[in-house]
Amino acid sequence: MSLRGLLSWCSIGTLLLQNGHVYARSVLADRAVGVPVANASVLILGGGVAGVIAARTLYEQGITDFMIVEARDELGGRLQTETIGAPGNEWVVERGPNWVQGTQTGNGPENPIWALVKKHGVKTQYNDWYDSMTTYDESGYVNYTDTFNESGDGYDTLTVAAGARVAKKLVDMTARTGYSLIGAKPQTPADKACEYYQFDWEYAQTPEESSWIASSWGNNFTYDPDDGGFGDDNQMSIDQRGFKYFIQAEAAEFLQPEQVKYNATVTKIAYSSDGVDVTLASGEVLSADYVLCTFSVGVLQNDDVTFDPPLPAWKQEAIQGIVMATYTKIFLQFEEDFWFDTQMGLYADTTRGRYPVWQNMNLTDFFPGSGVVFVTVTGEYSVRVEALSDEEVKEEVLGVLKLMYPNVTIPEPTAFYFPRWHTNPLFRGSYSNWPSSFFNGHHENLRATVNQRLWFAGEATSLKYFGFLHGAYFEGLDVGTTLANCIWAGGCAGMAHVPEVTNAYPYKV
Ligand SMILES: Cc1cc2nc3c(=O)[nH]c(=O)nc-3n(C[C@H](O)[C@H](O)[C@H](O)COP(=O)(O)OP(=O)(O)OC[C@H]3O[C@@H](n4cnc5c(N)ncnc54)[C@H](O)[C@@H]3O)c2cc1C
Ligand SMILES: *[C@@H]1O[C@H](CO)[C@@H](O)[C@H](O)[C@H]1NC(C)=O
Ligand SMILES: *[C@@H]1O[C@H](CO)[C@@H](O)[C@H](O)[C@H]1NC(C)=O
Ligand SMILES: *[C@@H]1O[C@H](CO)[C@@H](O)[C@H](O)[C@H]1NC(C)=O
Ligand SMILES: *[C@@H]1O[C@H](CO)[C@@H](O)[C@H](O)[C@H]1NC(C)=O
Ligand SMILES: *[C@@H]1O[C@H](CO)[C@@H](O)[C@H](O)[C@H]1NC(C)=O
Ligand SMILES: *[C@@H]1O[C@H](CO)[C@@H](O)[C@H](O)[C@H]1NC(C)=O
Ligand SMILES: *[C@@H]1O[C@H](CO)[C@@H](O)[C@H](O)[C@H]1NC(C)=O
Repeated sequence: MSLRGLLSWCSIGTLLLQNGHVYARSVLADRAVGVPVANASVLILGGGVAGVIAARTLYEQGITDFMIVEARDELGGRLQTETIGAPGNEWVVERGPNWVQGTQTGNGPENPIWALVKKHGVKTQYNDWYDSMTTYDESGYVNYTDTFNESGDGYDTLTVAAGARVAKKLVDMTARTGYSLIGAKPQTPADKACEYYQFDWEYAQTPEESSWIASSWGNNFTYDPDDGGFGDDNQMSIDQRGFKYFIQAEAAEFLQPEQVKYNATVTKIAYSSDGVDVTLASGEVLSADYVLCTFSVGVLQNDDVTFDPPLPAWKQEAIQGIVMATYTKIFLQFEEDFWFDTQMGLYADTTRGRYPVWQNMNLTDFFPGSGVVFVTVTGEYSVRVEALSDEEVKEEVLGVLKLMYPNVTIPEPTAFYFPRWHTNPLFRGSYSNWPSSFFNGHHENLRATVNQRLWFAGEATSLKYFGFLHGAYFEGLDVGTTLANCIWAGGCAGMAHVPEVTNAYPYKV
């Protein structure tokens, strides 16, 4: 099916007549006189938060000749649910994102995901990550909340020290180096579990694998109102329609059925300065003037989609330079609970990152009576468990519960489930993480346009909010706005790139 050049005065007329959308009308009033009409077609590849918000942005700017192309059979991308539980006690749990991270502080900036969650009435519950914690090690319950509190202070010190480096234009280093320089050097399993909770549980990688500066500024822009962030509350979705409901309901407000193509897996993107041809697994070819690719960097890294011609060197360096980290929630259901009555539990194994963070859903404010608990692993440990069978992972997890509760006969769970994000060809991980070898120029190149026609957006292209739902939202909005302006202008260079990312100071020989 060819989209190219289909739209013209006709669809703009349709837009005015059928919708009378006020914003589109005012855009037209501003632009329609003496300037080219928006006769360009756009294929938005991927129907996650970035794709849906980009589509909404084009629509609001009076551009209606677009189509979202999505491999799955619903919108939402990584927002996905799974129904687990024994018959009669089934619960919808989140495979992917669970929290609105950072909501709003006073009259400060509001997280746009929080705004959509409220607008569409998604049920959430404040999740206390710091003051509702029970601590364990391999001998069972052990109170190390003092260590836990110190690790929170250590993390804050790490972000302050990173800010001082930014102010002095000092180079980036790993967050591990940062921790060591501020004197936070975890020794015991409890020290390491607490550090894990502060760091890996957020970035889905270790301090060794992560940028000191980027992890700190990412933290600030989401959580720290003093630095323009939203605030440090985390609201957890407990809505049985799924967290995804907010974006699906938002899409339903503007998207026409023919503007989404489901069950359509892209295998090839052929582009030139004239336009794009997108080949689907079915063999069908879609053509358009512009393409906006919102696939995860994991998908781009893994050559799940072929680019013709191959992407330029600067783009490939950016894609391969960032990391697609993995975050795995492992859900269990038991007939009766025997665990902590706080919201969170922390288990310190002698192996750092071995089934460390536990969460109790069988609480009045969450899923009362559900008997659901889940444990999270990240990074290389996620890759490891994905390679095991469900049965093997279940045995390991039950083994950890036996250590945590030496006096309890751990029953057989009535449900056991975990998603495999790392091996999923539509994602290849959970969200991006920024290594210390990745520079600002690389990041600019990650979001930059290729040949004026091939555009990119997604959580990873967000400088301030990479990794988060709101990062995907802001990129859909920002790149969508730039693309709309470009179309109205009859073409443009797009988001700029740097030809080569160079050292400020060369190596001496
Ligand atoms: C386990 C987990 C926990 C998370 N927790 C949180 C959290 O609590 N809070 C938070 O803010 N963020 C969280 N995130 C991150 C958040 O989910 C992402 O930042 C956000 O959903 C990314 O949106 P996106 O539109 O950029 O990408 P995606 O949602 O990945 O959208 C891209 C779309 O492209 C489609 N696609 C891929 N390949 C193809 C192809 N070849 N052909 C056609 N379609 C294709 C995919 O199916 C997908 O729908 C979490 C993510 C995971 C996985
Ligand atoms: C829109 O149409 C005009 C006139 O036919 C043409 O010059 C222009 O190139 C078109 N723009 C795009 C982006 O296709
Ligand atoms: C997509 O595929 C699913 C499962 O194969 C099917 O139920 C659904 O009807 C399909 N949707 C579309 C729009 O083709
Ligand atoms: C854990 O120990 C601290 C002191 O280190 C104490 O303040 C706190 O009450 C203890 N917690 C529990 C649950 O006993
Ligand atoms: C840890 O901090 C919390 C408040 O954040 C406080 O209530 C608790 O007493 C502290 N515990 C210890 C052991 O310092
Ligand atoms: C993060 O916030 C802290 C506290 O406001 C600030 O001191 C620091 O400079 C910030 N760090 C970065 C990298 O922006
Ligand atoms: C959930 O918690 C309640 C209250 O503590 C308890 O009575 C009930 O047995 C638990 N349910 C399950 C299924 O574990
Ligand atoms: C487990 O049982 C032993 C022996 O009865 C007892 O000493 C210990 O305190 C119990 N531990 C817990 C966590 O209840």
